[in-house]
Formats: sequence, structure tokens, C-alpha cells
Amino acid sequence: MKPKRERENEPTFITAPPCIIAGSASTRLAHDIAAFHGFTEVGVELTRFPDTEMHVRLQESVRGHDAYIIQSTCAPVNERIVELLILIDTLRRAAAGRITVIVPYYGYARQDRKSTGREPITAKLVANLIDAAGADRVLAIDLHSPAIQGFFDIGMDHLTAIPLLANAVRGTIPQESVIVSPDTGGVKRADVFASLLQLPIAILHKRRADGENVEIAAVIGDVRGRTPIIVDDIIATGGTILEAVETLLRAGARPDVRVVATHGVFAGAAARRLAHPAITQVVATDSIAIPEELREALPTLEVVSIAELLGDAIYRLHNGLSLSALFKANGMPPI
Ligand code: R5P
Repeated sequence: MKPKRERENEPTFITAPPCIIAGSASTRLAHDIAAFHGFTEVGVELTRFPDTEMHVRLQESVRGHDAYIIQSTCAPVNERIVELLILIDTLRRAAAGRITVIVPYYGYARQDRKSTGREPITAKLVANLIDAAGADRVLAIDLHSPAIQGFFDIGMDHLTAIPLLANAVRGTIPQESVIVSPDTGGVKRADVFASLLQLPIAILHKRRADGENVEIAAVIGDVRGRTPIIVDDIIATGGTILEAVETLLRAGARPDVRVVATHGVFAGAAARRLAHPAITQVVATDSIAIPEELREALPTLEVVSIAELLGDAIYRLHNGLSLSALFKANGMPPI
């Protein structure tokens, strides 16, 4: 006798397509990923109780479907993190298949070690929370410190937007440009960027006086008469960039400074600082949604989308394909 499914003319196994779940910080990006790749987006109803507690309900069944939550843990950071944890729990209790958390911007990443006594390591605490909530896998882009990958005991994939950022300035920058790392911690990132564009590199030695104010103690490399392209992972208050620009100008760089960063946090006085007359181009990705008012306040800002990159990663994860191909396609080794 033929097997039952064959007799009933049904496939023996049905592979459920992946479903995309948008956290409230990343609705636009999640929508772009889903639309670009033809993935199903499952609606989420997020309401509040009068005491501000959050309540989440999925609008459709996800039973047996692998779920990909997209949520940047940007401002308001604590709210976004709690929402992410609640979403993971909701999916787990709704019997989703594998739950992959895509955190385009990982808040608290800069608290990745104790820099003095009596401090927490909050980047590790956030990793523990995501793990405990029931995620199977996490994917992030350009983590402030790649060592954060090791904070997770579940699977972790780390992508980079550096090739996308390099493509955004390629063709618009003069030959006499120099890639600048605004601090010694970012040298590897700047070096990858420099090799993609085949440009020399300079390094600034930054000291942080407090949370917002920085001072630059030294310039290593030749910037005189060159167009500097400052490459950073995060622009938060813009303090680092402003100090870097003024240092570079004093060192004889051309007043045609380009600034590229993966994560545009743009907190506090960032827009005003980046409106410095010597900054002619600012490029950031949409790992954090950029509000319209900021685009209006900062006409030099260009936003590069990571939707295709993340969609390709989801396609590959879902189909058990290697992610290294995403790096190779952009001419760089995995980071
Ligand atoms: C620091 O090590 C990071 O790479 C960034 O340079 C920093 O987070 C930027 O912060 P802000 O814009 O507030 O100076």
C-alpha cells in the first residue's frame, strides 16, 4: 500500500515559510525586509494597561513557523528591551518553530566590560535576558565590540554594514582621501573600510572625559591636504565626531569631512554638532529608524538601508545556507 500522504496526494513534509515579526522600534525596516523578499509579516497588537504595562498579541497563528523578530533596542532602550523579551515569550507560547532575534542596533553594547569598580556589564545582562526569554538564535550588525558575540550561549551571527557604507561614498570621494578611525577601538573597522576603498588610514587617540565630552590626544597618520572619511560604529551625541573634525582640521585636513557610521543614534545635540560647516556628508544605516525631522535638520545625511542584507541573512538562515557567502559577495572576510 502507498504511504498515507501519497494516497491523499499531499506532501509528506510541509516546510512552513518564515514569518517576520516587527518590534515597535523597527516597523519600517521589518516591513522593508518582508516586502523586498516576499516574506510574510505577522501583525502584532501592542497595547498598554493604564499602569503602562505592555500587552502583546499576535494577529495570526505562528504554530510551527520559524519566526524572525526585528527589534532595535534603541531609545527608549529599556522599553524596547522589555518589548523584545515579551515578543519572544509570546512566540514561544504560541508554538513558533525556531525563534531568531534580529537586533539591528544592540543597546547597552558600550557597557561591555567593567571600566572601573562597582559597575555592571549590562551588554551581558541583556544577552542573558534574551537567552532566558527563549530565543534560539540572535543576529546583530556591527556590534560595538565583536566580543559581545561570546555573551550569548545560544547561536549568534554577526553581520557588517561596512561594504554598504563604503559603496555609499565610493565614487563621490576624491582620490586624496584618508580613512580615519576616531579611536583606537575602531581601527579594525576602519582598516576593513580602507581596504575596500584602497585608501590609507589614520587613527585618532581619543579619551572620554565623561559620557559626552571627549578629547583627542594624538593623530597617527598623514591627513594634511586630504579629505577625511571618519568611520565609526555609532554616532550618539556627535561629541566624538565633532572633536575628531576639529582635530583633523587643525592637522591640516581639507574642510570636506565625510562621516560614516552603522548606527545613527543621534541623541541630544547630535544634529547641531553634525551640521558643522566642514562636514559635507553623513552616512548612516536604517538600523535605527531615522525621524523625518532629523533628515530635515541635517540635509547632509544619507541613509543606507540594511533591509536587503538582513533579508538575505534570513533567507540563508531559514534554508540552512552559509552566511559567509554574504561577506564573500562583498569582498571581505567574516568579522
Ligand atoms: C565609542 O567607542 C564609539 O565607537 C563611538 O565613537 C561613540 O559611541 C560615539 O558616541 P558620541 O557620538 O556620543 O561621542
